[in-house]
Amino acid sequence: MASMHKLQAKEIRLASRPHGEPSEENFAFATAEIPELQPGEVLVRNAFFSVDPYMRGRMNEGKSYVPAFAVGKILDGAAVGQVVQSRDAAFPVSTWVQSLCGWRDYFVAPAQQLRAIDARQAPASAYLGVLGATGLTAWVGLNDIANVKEGETVFISGGAGAVGSVACQLARLRGCRVIASAGSAPKVAFLKNQLKVDHAFNYRESEPLQQLQTSAPEGLHVYFDNTAGPQLEAALYAMRNRGRIVMCGAISGYNTPVPGPRNLALTIVRRLRIEGFIVVDYIHRMPQFLAEMVPALRAGKLLHQETIVNGIEQAPRAFISLLHSGDAHMGKLVVRV
Ligand SMILES: NC(=O)c1ccc[n+]([C@@H]2O[C@H](COP(=O)([O-])OP(=O)(O)OC[C@H]3O[C@@H](n4cnc5c(N)ncnc54)[C@H](OP(=O)(O)O)[C@@H]3O)[C@@H](O)[C@H]2O)c1
Repeated sequence: MASMHKLQAKEIRLASRPHGEPSEENFAFATAEIPELQPGEVLVRNAFFSVDPYMRGRMNEGKSYVPAFAVGKILDGAAVGQVVQSRDAAFPVSTWVQSLCGWRDYFVAPAQQLRAIDARQAPASAYLGVLGATGLTAWVGLNDIANVKEGETVFISGGAGAVGSVACQLARLRGCRVIASAGSAPKVAFLKNQLKVDHAFNYRESEPLQQLQTSAPEGLHVYFDNTAGPQLEAALYAMRNRGRIVMCGAISGYNTPVPGPRNLALTIVRRLRIEGFIVVDYIHRMPQFLAEMVPALRAGKLLHQETIVNGIEQAPRAFISLLHSGDAHMGKLVVRV
């Protein structure tokens, strides 16, 4: 206990707010003393933490659905780790936990704020990806927002990314015809060969509307939008009457806002429904989600694709790369602490 008390936590802070594209100077590494445990608290050593596009919005000033990061203060995000000291009987040493205390190696928190995970069911990092908020986002978007049905044609942009790769697989498991896009040849190959989508294309090297019109001549029932920008515009043209557009993300405009689609009036002509959602409003769906996903993962019906970056000091660079198109990562991007 005495030696642990002297432990310093390594953490990443917001050094300054980026304008446009972030750079490594916007991040600072710091150490902080780990406080002595109070009753009900645990000390956790993070094993992996998540790198997520929504963090870019939190680096800006101003109110969003989550508070902005404060300059000079620690960043945070989803993480999984193991309890190394405990003053809560329900969370003994070695318990694997999921938290929102990422971007650091150790942290102390009330055990009540943590969720225990079963790392025997799946690798711990999967609870940041296919079994975590990422997977839940895909699941909620397809089930609760789009209400996809067997036989429908679904287009998923950002298909090789964290949310997109789960959405592609779930839509296929629901019996849908899946069209997916990504920004590089290896990602398109991954979509076709590993995720087995019906049609995949590189949105940077081909015309998205033409791809959609040839692969879905009858039109799209559902568009699961991770990017907004030109792909949203193309999808609007390609929707069937009474189609549904799930607004999950708009990454094409996170660094520099992009204009909205010029053909939004098609929502009237085609009687479309466009609905945005934030996964944190659906945490109550976690039990149903896990009840479906864990057996599917264990039975090999779902692929848990992740890219692991080693070392907390690599996190800023990994985050910057996430906001770009390219091959830097496939599936869920996590940092191994
Ligand atoms: N609504 C919610 O609650 C919720 C929850 C989680 C995530 N999201 C959103 O879902 C989307 C995907 O998140 P994720 O965690 O799964 O990230 P991700 O897809 O694993 O990573 C981001 C990917 O976006 C693509 N990208 C980057 N710049 C782009 C651009 N200008 N145009 C088109 N694509 C671009 C890149 O893939 P390519 O190389 O293929 O271009 C990049 O790898 C994001 O928009 C995120 O904000 C929403």
